[in-house]
Amino acid sequence: MPAALSISQEILKPHLEIQGGHTLSRELKVSGAKNSALVLMTSALLSEGPLELHNVPQLTDIQGMADILSSLGVRVKRSQETVWLQADDLHHAEPPYDLVNGLRASFFCIGPLLGRLGHAKVPLPGGCRIGARPVVEHIRGLKALGAMVKVEHGVVTASVPGTSRRLKGAAIVLDCPSVGATETILMASVLAEGTSTIENAAQEPEVQDLAKMLNAMGARVSGAGGPIITIEGVERLHGCNYSVIPDRIEAGTFLIAAAITRSIVRVSPVIPEHLNAVLQKLRDCGCTLEIDKQGITLIPGDLHGVDIITQPFPGFPTDLQAPFMALLTTAKGTSVVTEKIYENRMQHVAELQRMGASIRLQGNTAVVEGIPQLSAAPVSGNDLRAAAALVLAGLAARGISQVDGLNHLDRGYDGIETKLNASGAHILRHQPSG
Ligand code: EPZ
Repeated sequence: MPAALSISQEILKPHLEIQGGHTLSRELKVSGAKNSALVLMTSALLSEGPLELHNVPQLTDIQGMADILSSLGVRVKRSQETVWLQADDLHHAEPPYDLVNGLRASFFCIGPLLGRLGHAKVPLPGGCRIGARPVVEHIRGLKALGAMVKVEHGVVTASVPGTSRRLKGAAIVLDCPSVGATETILMASVLAEGTSTIENAAQEPEVQDLAKMLNAMGARVSGAGGPIITIEGVERLHGCNYSVIPDRIEAGTFLIAAAITRSIVRVSPVIPEHLNAVLQKLRDCGCTLEIDKQGITLIPGDLHGVDIITQPFPGFPTDLQAPFMALLTTAKGTSVVTEKIYENRMQHVAELQRMGASIRLQGNTAVVEGIPQLSAAPVSGNDLRAAAALVLAGLAARGISQVDGLNHLDRGYDGIETKLNASGAHILRHQPSG
C-alpha cells in the first residue's frame, strides 16, 4: 500500500474490515463455478435455440460476459442464479474492444462465432497482473481447423475461406494444456465438417462441464477430462437447460478458511474429485476431512508445513496457490510454494509479509516459515486470488485488518463476506459512495 496515500484516502477505497480471531462453524455454501459459467455462456453463440443456465454465480464477470454477448445480438436475461440466452438474431461477430479488454474469457467467443458464422473479429485480451497470458494456442488450433487468422492493431480477425462457412475437422496437438485454448477449439470444432481431435488437452472440470453441455445441445464430444478429446462435427446444435458445476476454487478457499481459523466447518456443494490434489495437501498438513455425497467437513489438526507446486489439472490448481500460502504462514515448520503456471502470481507475498508472515521469495518460489499468528494490517489484493488470500489471513490475524482490491475479489467470489459472516466471521464491507 503506497505510503503516499493518506489514511483518509485509504479509507475512501472500498474495502473489507475483518476482525480476526473468530472461529467459524456450521456451513459455507458454494456457488456455481465462475470459470465454467463464463465459457458455457459463450456457447449460446453456437445455436439459435434457447439456452437456460442454472446455478450461475452472481459476479461482476458474469455481467461483463452478458454485456458482451448482448452487444453481438444475443438476447440475455438474468434473474438471481439463472441466465437465459438466445442467439437467434446474431447481427455481428465483433465484440467491442472496451468490453473485451475488461474480461479475458470473452476472447473465447472467437471459437463459437467462427464455428457458427464462419467469421469473427475479436480484440486480443492482452496480459493481466498475473502474467502475459498469450492466446497463441487458440489461434494455432483455429488455423488447423482451416481458418485464416490475422492479428492486426490488437484485433484477431478469423474467417473460413471459400463459399462454405464450415471449418474442417483436424488433429490438433497443443504445446501446453491451456484451458482457454482447449475450450475455444472445442467450441469451434463441434460444427466443423468431419472429426477433430485435441491432444494434450486441458483436463479441468470446467472443460468437462463444457463438453457435457455441448453434448446436451446435440454435439458429439468424447474424452473430455482426459488428455485427448474427440469431436465429431454436426450440422447444427439446439438449445438446452443446464446447471453449472459447483465452484471448486471457491470450495477450496472455504476449506482453507476453516483450516486457517482452526474451525470445524462443512463446505457444500462440492464434487470431491474436482479437488483431490487440494484435499491431499490439506490432509498432509494435518487436517481431517469427512467427505459425503454433497459436501466436505474439515476438522483442523496441529497444522504443519507442506510443499506446493502448481500444475494443470489434476495437479494442484494455481488459483488456490495464494489462499493455501496464507494458511501455510501459520503452519508449523517450513513450506516451499512453487508457482509453475503464471510468471507473476506472487503479489500476495508482500502483503502477507505486512501481516508479519515469514516468507522468502526467489522468483516463483516462496519459502514460508510458519509463525504462531499473523497480525492485522491494511493490505491490498492486487488480483482475484491474492485478494481472497488476504481475506483468509485477516480472518486468522490478531486485530482488525482492512483488505482492499474488492474490484478483483467480486469478480470471482459471490457475496464472500455474507457467507463467511453467516459462519461466524466478523467482516464489514465499506463501499464509500462517490
Ligand atoms: C483459465 O485461464 C482460468 N480462467 C484461470 O482462472 C486459471 O488460472 C487458468 O485457466 C489455469 O487453470 C478462466 O477459465 C476464465 P490457460 P486460461 O490458457 O484459460 C499459458 C481465476 O483466478 N498459455 O490454461 O487463460 C498461459 O500463459 C483465473 O479464476 C500459453 O502459453 O488459462 C498460462 O501461463 C485466473 N499459450 C498457462 O498457459 C496459450 O496460447 C495457463 O493458461 C495459452 C496459454
